[in-house]
Amino acid sequence: MTKDVITAIEERTSIRKYKKDSVPETIITKILDAARKAPSAGNRQPWKFIVVYNEDVKSKLSDAALKQKFVSSAPVVIVVCAEPETSRKRFGERGENLYCIQDTAAATQNILLAATGYGLGTCWVGAFSESKVKECLELPVSLRPVAMVTVGYPESEEIKRSGRRSLADIVHIIK
Ligand SMILES: Cc1cc2nc3c(=O)[nH]c(=O)nc-3n(C[C@H](O)[C@H](O)[C@H](O)COP(=O)(O)O)c2cc1C
Repeated sequence: MTKDVITAIEERTSIRKYKKDSVPETIITKILDAARKAPSAGNRQPWKFIVVYNEDVKSKLSDAALKQKFVSSAPVVIVVCAEPETSRKRFGERGENLYCIQDTAAATQNILLAATGYGLGTCWVGAFSESKVKECLELPVSLRPVAMVTVGYPESEEIKRSGRRSLADIVHIIK
């Protein structure tokens, strides 16, 4: 059973402790399929997704992510990469520096929500050395790693929800 999108938005929270159980590749494929359905400026789809199951590579990613140990403890790590040149060709500087980042962020959010829909826990990891990630994944120069997403079944059923600013604090309505 999957969850509807509002339930997934409500239930999603960053999970940093995972069961050892492996995640079926068929589910990872469905999650990546959700990622590629994200909107992108001019439908350029300036992204690549590197799916890491390998323990040694996950350990190197963990080191690259300022030694955040939970990264290597996740059964799967998806590294979301932007292809700035793909966006630059159509949109110039705005494509290279803004759109490809927004597009890959939208794809990353789809990954988080789809994974939640399949009962998985995730964490968006942005604190990492780009050069170390490029090196350990042997990425071509055309790719910029912009996010890692750790994926696995949550160790605990208990959900610790982080707080949010109130709507009154963040919304400005113009009628
Ligand atoms: C761009 C970005 C970078 C993040 N980087 C990290 C990170 O490096 N390590 C980490 O543990 N969580 C990271 N997070 C997760 C946030 O800490 C988390 O989303 C936030 O505290 C809100 O909690 P919630 O996801 O449980 O709602 C990142 C989230 C985003 C969107």
